[in-house]
Amino acid sequence: MATAADLTVKPAEIDPIDVTRAELYTEDRWQEPFRQLRRHAPIQWVPESKYGAYWSVSSHKPIQHIEALPKLFSSDWRYGGITLAAESDTLLPNEIRQPMFIAMDPPEHTAQRRTVAPSFGPGEVAAMKEECRERTAEVLDALPIGKAFDWVQRVSIELTTGQLAKLFGFPWEERHKLTEWSDYGGDITMFRDADALAARNAKMQEMGMAFAALWQERMANQGAAGGKDLISVMIQSDAMNHMSEEEFIGNLILLIVGGNDTTRNSMSGYAYGLNQFPEEREKLEQDPDLIPNAVQEIIRWQTPLAHMRRVLTEDTDMFGHDMKKGDRVALWYISANRDEEVFDDPDAIRVDRENARRHLSFGYGIHRCVGARVAELQLITLFEEMAKRRLRVNVLSEPERVPACFVHGYKSMQVELSTY
Ligand code: HEM
Repeated sequence: MATAADLTVKPAEIDPIDVTRAELYTEDRWQEPFRQLRRHAPIQWVPESKYGAYWSVSSHKPIQHIEALPKLFSSDWRYGGITLAAESDTLLPNEIRQPMFIAMDPPEHTAQRRTVAPSFGPGEVAAMKEECRERTAEVLDALPIGKAFDWVQRVSIELTTGQLAKLFGFPWEERHKLTEWSDYGGDITMFRDADALAARNAKMQEMGMAFAALWQERMANQGAAGGKDLISVMIQSDAMNHMSEEEFIGNLILLIVGGNDTTRNSMSGYAYGLNQFPEEREKLEQDPDLIPNAVQEIIRWQTPLAHMRRVLTEDTDMFGHDMKKGDRVALWYISANRDEEVFDDPDAIRVDRENARRHLSFGYGIHRCVGARVAELQLITLFEEMAKRRLRVNVLSEPERVPACFVHGYKSMQVELSTY
């Protein structure tokens, strides 16, 4: 088991383990390399990878420590943003950088986060409950019992895209576009291929134009005054006056990409994970009061975003490691959530795990997920509506997984429903 002192183990004492390799995720065998890293080199310099050199931070404590130092460990988009995809300060061929507040440091970050945060407060989220429940019920009631279907398409995507369409007041019939844009936006594998990056840019531009049109429409329409959808709220906010159109669009992209893949893959993780642990599934079926805790446990176990990255703004000594200005640092939430120091038997799902909430799936510190409550609402509602109908998901074959070290999830998953 790792101890705090292990944090200072130097990279030379264990060969670098490059955990960005896509096959680790498509084949679902990332667990062992991260176990090795946590045990022998929880902070390790990896000089070579498809995404360039980086520091790999893989245990719970140093990730929290680093996230609490946002001035030293910057998220700034000018350094290439919050995934390992881009280089620090050199643009890749066809790379365009978009300002958005997840990729900003204080004071810019503080002001812009303040604009949207009230839309995700407890009162606002409580007001979304009824609509979320009705929509979830409708999706579940349309599913076949005892017949194979793709859970990702029919449940996870349908519910999360529907929620975002409601949140933004996006035209309902065109909501599938949100799914497509989000998929392009979150796909970091496109970054190292200039043609793929150009295709991604085209999609992001299409999305930007669609939202710019909605923005114009709501600006022109006095109905925006007092409008409750997120676009109207942003238009009415004081901080809006200080935001360029580019930043406004960047932040909308952030909200869509941030809110879509992540919640989607938690819903798919619920189906897959509980199928892996049938005794835990039964425990939850017998005691629906466990649902809120089970939601946290599934978010921990799945870790829908495997990492976020930071860039050093100054040379520093971090637990004995000589980090240099400009170095890129990957914070592996996926590994912190399996840290044996924090979670007993971490690879197992335990729906009644006492400290499930200590997971880092939402990040930590000033950038901690602003949409966490909306994600929790959607998951709690799904679990509750499944329980009401006494529905159980049986996974029929290994799912197809996302081939990347950023979005950690499933492309498709054949399942069959039964009742209990
Ligand atoms: C930030 C995860 C759902 C919007 C983040 C961060 C993570 C994360 C890891 C960055 C933390 C950091 O850099 O320290 C998740 C997970 C979700 C989820 C696992 C679902 C289970 C959502 C939803 C929305 C959303 C539903 C909005 C509709 C955002 C935004 C930020 C963010 C705007 C930027 C916050 C900031 O920089 O201050 N999320 N997220 N997320 N998330 Fe989420």
